[in-house]
Amino acid sequence: MLTIIFLAFCFSAVDSQFPRVCATDAALRTKTCCPLWKDKSSCGSLSGRGRCKSWVTSGEKTIPVSNDDRFNWPRFYYDNTCECYGNYSGFDCGDCKYGIHGEKCDRKNMIVRRELRELSFLEQKRLFSYLALAKTTKSRDFVILSTGDRFHRETYRFVDASLYDVFVWMHYYSMKAIMINDTFDLIRNFAHQGPVFPGWHRLNLLFMERQIQLMTGDETFAIPYYDWRGDKNCSICTDTLLGSNDDQGVLNFYSHFSFWKTICSGFNYPDEYCPLADAEQKMERLHRKPGTTPYAANLPTFQDVEDALKLPNFDTPPFNETSLLSFRNALEGFLAPDGVTLKRSMHNLVHIYMGGAMSQIPISSNDPIFLLHHSFVDKIFETWLDRYDATPSTYPENSEIGHGPDECAVPYFPCHRNRDYLERAITFGYQYTFFPVK
Ligand SMILES: *[C@@H]1O[C@H](CO)[C@@H](O)[C@H](O)[C@H]1NC(C)=O
Ligand SMILES: *[C@@H]1O[C@H](CO)[C@@H](O)[C@H](O)[C@H]1NC(C)=O
Ligand SMILES: *[C@@H]1O[C@H](CO)[C@@H](O)[C@H](O)[C@H]1NC(C)=O
Ligand SMILES: *[C@@H]1O[C@H](CO)[C@@H](O)[C@H](O)[C@H]1NC(C)=O
Repeated sequence: MLTIIFLAFCFSAVDSQFPRVCATDAALRTKTCCPLWKDKSSCGSLSGRGRCKSWVTSGEKTIPVSNDDRFNWPRFYYDNTCECYGNYSGFDCGDCKYGIHGEKCDRKNMIVRRELRELSFLEQKRLFSYLALAKTTKSRDFVILSTGDRFHRETYRFVDASLYDVFVWMHYYSMKAIMINDTFDLIRNFAHQGPVFPGWHRLNLLFMERQIQLMTGDETFAIPYYDWRGDKNCSICTDTLLGSNDDQGVLNFYSHFSFWKTICSGFNYPDEYCPLADAEQKMERLHRKPGTTPYAANLPTFQDVEDALKLPNFDTPPFNETSLLSFRNALEGFLAPDGVTLKRSMHNLVHIYMGGAMSQIPISSNDPIFLLHHSFVDKIFETWLDRYDATPSTYPENSEIGHGPDECAVPYFPCHRNRDYLERAITFGYQYTFFPVK
């Protein structure tokens, strides 16, 4: 009986984005995720879009020593995945690289990410309606992995989720504690605490931006940002924008996100995925309590951003949260912008400042303010890339699991190599309105 209830819950539940067509028994048994494209050939090979690549025979180095499913992504699940040529991309090479559009992927389209308050009233309305649609529309292409026990393949169940919840899950999944030889290692993860941090989040926003463009047919959609520098309080936390909240952190009934449910709340399960996200009625409402955490009572300043941008090294050994003189670590916020003091700052400080879901980092993307925050973090990253003429070769060799320059970012299909997200934003079809030069 318990099993039946468990399974029943699973099907209304949430949990790693997988291409729907690759979540079948056959695909998992043959470890092959090379779907047929419209021309009926796998990865659109007959149309020259891509090919089904075998990771086994490709000579790619494999990282041993773990039963964690994310190591050496995507090899735990698939030995064969699509590799797309030229401007093509997507899990079946049916989509285009970021910034490219059209059936033949031959049309470039440049979008500009702007400050939320630079948007017109209508543009703001459009943003909120697109987000509402993303939160309520079942993802056509992706399902998520919902399982009671993350280390036992036989318990795996793939379930539907809304497009927005697929996005939330990706962050959660990449942050789950790493298991090395049956022991949890809490100081490492696949999206934070190392050189992958800025690029992983860049890719994460690009994924969401693209999915919203595809869902709405609006190629001009760009994720705006929240410039939090020197803000005295969360000035976008008003009911016409991100929503005000009461003392308990409950969002105002009349604001856009007041009825959003938080998936994976109570995320800190040692060996399970998201067990409470199994029934809509048990899921918590979104909470936010900006400015009420005593040790994170102020947002980063203009000077903090200037100082962080003065650090010329992208990242430094040991490539974790103790790295000094590291732009990445200062931007991420384990290091103060002075480059020498290990203390909460920048990106991390904003998360903690916001309270509620935002301050619980694994589930923080449940709050759509995450998108606006990370769009601004990405703008600072872009400013740094520009200032120091960075390229993918700037990305350091290192031995942190999941952070290698040539490792595939978790949990994306097809493979997106970590180093490639040090390309300039223009490569991916977007730009920012730049900081004025002082
Ligand atoms: C790739 O896209 C660019 C537009 O950005 C276009 O000029 C180029 O011709 C495309 N390449 C191919 C092979 O279609
Ligand atoms: C995990 O176990 C294997 C086999 O016992 C061993 O070779 C490896 O060094 C261990 N890895 C770690 C990180 O402890
Ligand atoms: C932020 O502060 C301004 C003035 O300092 C005030 O008008 C506004 O209501 C505050 N907003 C919030 C969300 O507390
Ligand atoms: C950072 O890396 C160093 C060197 O490998 C290690 O001694 C330290 O425990 C790591 N610290 C954290 C917090 O990751």
